[in-house]
Amino acid sequence: MKVPKRLQPLVDDGMVDEVLYQLMSGKEAQVYVVRCGDQLRCAKVFKEAQKRSFKQAVEYQEGRKVRNSRRARAMSKKTKYGQKEQEDAWLNAEVDALYRLAAAGVRVPEPMGFVDGVLLMELVADEDGKAAPRLDDVTLTPEQARDYHARVIAEVVRMLSAGLIHGDLSEFNVLVDSDGPVIIDLPQAVNAAGNNNAERMLERDVDNMRRYFGKYAPELLVTDYGKEIWALYESGDLHPDSKLTGCFEHDTHSADVDELMAVIDAAKEEELERKERIQAEAEDDD
Ligand SMILES: Nc1ncnc2c1ncn2[C@@H]1O[C@H](COP(=O)(O)OP(=O)(O)OP(=O)(O)O)[C@@H](O)[C@H]1O
Ligand SMILES: [Mg+2]
Repeated sequence: MKVPKRLQPLVDDGMVDEVLYQLMSGKEAQVYVVRCGDQLRCAKVFKEAQKRSFKQAVEYQEGRKVRNSRRARAMSKKTKYGQKEQEDAWLNAEVDALYRLAAAGVRVPEPMGFVDGVLLMELVADEDGKAAPRLDDVTLTPEQARDYHARVIAEVVRMLSAGLIHGDLSEFNVLVDSDGPVIIDLPQAVNAAGNNNAERMLERDVDNMRRYFGKYAPELLVTDYGKEIWALYESGDLHPDSKLTGCFEHDTHSADVDELMAVIDAAKEEELERKERIQAEAEDDD
């Protein structure tokens, strides 16, 4: 394809040899598959600040370390320079997070450089070498759902052991290759230690995964990994290989079994309806 304007500097520098095609454009960025020598890679071009939506919200910014104090002062002002510095810090956050998480053994795309607002990284691919599907694009068996859920929760634990919370974890930000789930899309990653919203964000990430995988394996809907992980983290007992139960002792002891059973039944019904719908559609096609 014709080289998009924002990728031209990378082509001119010889970092990219060819731009092959564009993947689905997200809310925050455009993602291209590019060729570098004999390797396919992914180029994520961040949209300009005004065109981006929610992720730059203050809740994510808290506790981000800005090492250079002149910079920190500039960022706190509404000057043009301050805004530019804030923009750069934002873009760097995903690159920083990718390096930190890769080093911590989390399955993320390997970062390969960051030039002019473009992040070059490993292409997470399926067996044919094409960009891997997102969790949202795949259908899982209950066994797969349980297995992938456990692996994603283990990644969340690894991330938090390295001090980070994804902050926007969902079926749209997890890819599936032949070895299982890969976590992507981290510009909003949150420093757990310095952010007052950390606990809430961790729980939201974990809840999103429970809800998604629970569609295929309803027994997951009654797990409570978020609170368990956070309690271990706060007491300094969280390690990448911490053994988790999925249960959490609530102080109020309000676990209402009838209510939980109703949730499970509703999910099972929904899954049954889904299967019937798929079957009806297949019959219509015949
Ligand atoms: N390393 C990668 N390998 C393969 N596909 C990728 C990779 N990175 C991103 N993608 C694809 O590009 C899409 C958009 O990427 P990403 O989620 O990072 O951007 P985004 O614009 O922040 O998305 P959104 O705001 O919609 O969540 C992903 O859903 C995924 O399908
Ligand atoms: Mg995304």
